[in-house]
Amino acid sequence: MPNKQSHNTAGPIGIFDSGYGGLTVLRQIRQLMPEYDYLYLGDNARAPYGTRSFEVVYQFTLQAVSRLFSMGCPLVVLACNTASAKALRTIQQNDLPTIDPTRRVLGVIRPTAECIGNITQSRHIGIFATPGTIRSQTYDIEIGKLFPDIKVTGQACPMWVPLIENGEYRDDGADYFVRKYINQLLSRDPDIDAIILGCTHYPLLYDKIRHFTPSDIRLISQGEYVAKSLADYFGRHRDMESRITRNGRIRFFTTENPTSFSDNATCFLGSSVEAERVSL
Ligand code: DGL
Repeated sequence: MPNKQSHNTAGPIGIFDSGYGGLTVLRQIRQLMPEYDYLYLGDNARAPYGTRSFEVVYQFTLQAVSRLFSMGCPLVVLACNTASAKALRTIQQNDLPTIDPTRRVLGVIRPTAECIGNITQSRHIGIFATPGTIRSQTYDIEIGKLFPDIKVTGQACPMWVPLIENGEYRDDGADYFVRKYINQLLSRDPDIDAIILGCTHYPLLYDKIRHFTPSDIRLISQGEYVAKSLADYFGRHRDMESRITRNGRIRFFTTENPTSFSDNATCFLGSSVEAERVSL
């Protein structure tokens, strides 16, 4: 845990996910704001989070946030819907005041919910997400607050993250599970005209999901919206923005084997990655 002396110091933006999925968010954030420094932390050793209980996801996420704080990050983005759904509120309200009230933790669900009002015409939308995110009903609640006229139907996709974490997401075997969850969702609400990919891993399956989803249905990957929302946040919080260091540097940390992480992350990001191991 960071001590009092670490208050108000400057450092990189921390980006956290259970595994590789947050890289899809990092990519968009960095594209928009390449000047900042970033620390990415993937808890690959304990992924997936999506099938774990509230208490476990909360504990794991708090450990990761504390670690990123102790590495000097004034701000951490939970680039993980499951962690945003199950841990963000408690960390913001109960933990931050005692750990360090000057630091901030942001999630990915609110910025995604905000974009949907202008996208759907039919006012029927779908959410693909992990079982944990769907069970939490966080999307239904956040969208309901902003756009009460929109009907939200959530579809849990428990097999998608394991396919991605295990590098099977491009293979034909993945098709079965991609079609299965699309068909289940559309049979529950045939009027859906937009679907949120409510898990940061899913953009890696985008081509397959697009292939099996009717072409008139919009698919929404959240990275771009999260990146714009973070830029907007910095515009409104100059004090926090001034605490982010600006050397355009990025470091990667994983709780699993750094060589495997480096290989996979290089594929996901399209540029060479050297990861380091960290324990939580
Ligand atoms: N990428 C994460 C999300 O956005 C979590 C996936 C998982 O670990 O199950 O929900």
